[in-house]
Amino acid sequence: MKFKPFDLEYTQSTWEQEVDINLTESGVHPMRLEELLGDDPGKVAALMATEINYPHVNGIPQLRENIAALYDGASIDNVLVTVGAAEANHVIIQTLLEPGDELATQSPTYKQVWGLAQNMGCKVRPFRLVPEAGWQLDIDELNAQVNDRTRIIAICNPNNPTGHIMTAAEMDAVIAAADRVGAWILADEVYRGAERVQQEETPSFYGRYPKVLALGSMSKAYGLPGLRIGWLVGPHATVEDIWRRHEYTTITATMLSNILASHALSPEVRPRIIQRTRDYIRNGFPVLEEWMAKQDGLFSCTPPQASAVSFIRYQLDMNSTQLMEKLCREAGVFVGAGDSFGMDHHLRVAFGQDREVLEDAFARMEQTLESCL
Ligand SMILES: Cc1ncc(COP(=O)(O)O)c(C=O)c1O
Repeated sequence: MKFKPFDLEYTQSTWEQEVDINLTESGVHPMRLEELLGDDPGKVAALMATEINYPHVNGIPQLRENIAALYDGASIDNVLVTVGAAEANHVIIQTLLEPGDELATQSPTYKQVWGLAQNMGCKVRPFRLVPEAGWQLDIDELNAQVNDRTRIIAICNPNNPTGHIMTAAEMDAVIAAADRVGAWILADEVYRGAERVQQEETPSFYGRYPKVLALGSMSKAYGLPGLRIGWLVGPHATVEDIWRRHEYTTITATMLSNILASHALSPEVRPRIIQRTRDYIRNGFPVLEEWMAKQDGLFSCTPPQASAVSFIRYQLDMNSTQLMEKLCREAGVFVGAGDSFGMDHHLRVAFGQDREVLEDAFARMEQTLESCL
């Protein structure tokens, strides 16, 4: 079987250090350590006194407690802390899938799970999110793609790249399809908390059906990607099985990251960070929208309900990877190619940055785009 690289991450490794402005990050502008700790000298002293040992392999108890509090009915035994949601996805797929199994997933989506399954010899069956329906899923296609071989239905909610938040009817349809064949639901919920159009947090799949593994991360809704802390929440016995794979892959995340993530998720600090993320998202999207409105119909999009990215369609006779590379080379601005998400003639543009950065990026892009018309 031929190994399939992870197209989006490969492209990011290739370009992100070569450009002036990187608009491929789906989270908001990262926090500085001093912003996270605030001006409490006690916190800094405690951090300085930390022994940089291995922490608990499944995550320090305080962190798991703070994570469990985000899910109705979860306790710390339901939580495994991983090195980013990336590791959580990896160990879940290793644990649950065997060659010959099938995985059903959204399209467009973040294609890590998709590639992991294919690299294990599993068939991936996509079902569409429909642009004309505001990126709601095609329930008939979901039902057609789920069969007796389906071991996992993988969902990203809120969705990357569209920013769509599933309606209750969509969630029910996914649960019904999983229940019909006894499949797992792998719910990647890393943008939960990063809502743009509502105050209410996106509901988790956890607790709505017994075979759910819900993922979270410090990278997106919390603006702390460099901590490399993610997690999964699921039934205790399955969490134990996945933990056995985690011991092979990374053993554990770092002690300092466990402590800092626990601080960030504490009830006293978390609301401040979520507000910061939402401020970036809510202030950034109008800058993109205003700019697109001035481009004579070149772009159209369904405004994202959550996340710091918008998946925009462009009216140019050019492939999205070629356009992305041209923008990197000529404008020094890096945006995601629709190809990386399984949908050409789109760009994924991140807007969780300060206005000046966005205005500079869009002015540069405009010059390059003029030469394509
Ligand atoms: C939907 C989704 N899941 C998982 C990840 C991996 O995130 P982490 O930084 O927590 O490993 C990403 C990163 O872009 C993502 O967009």
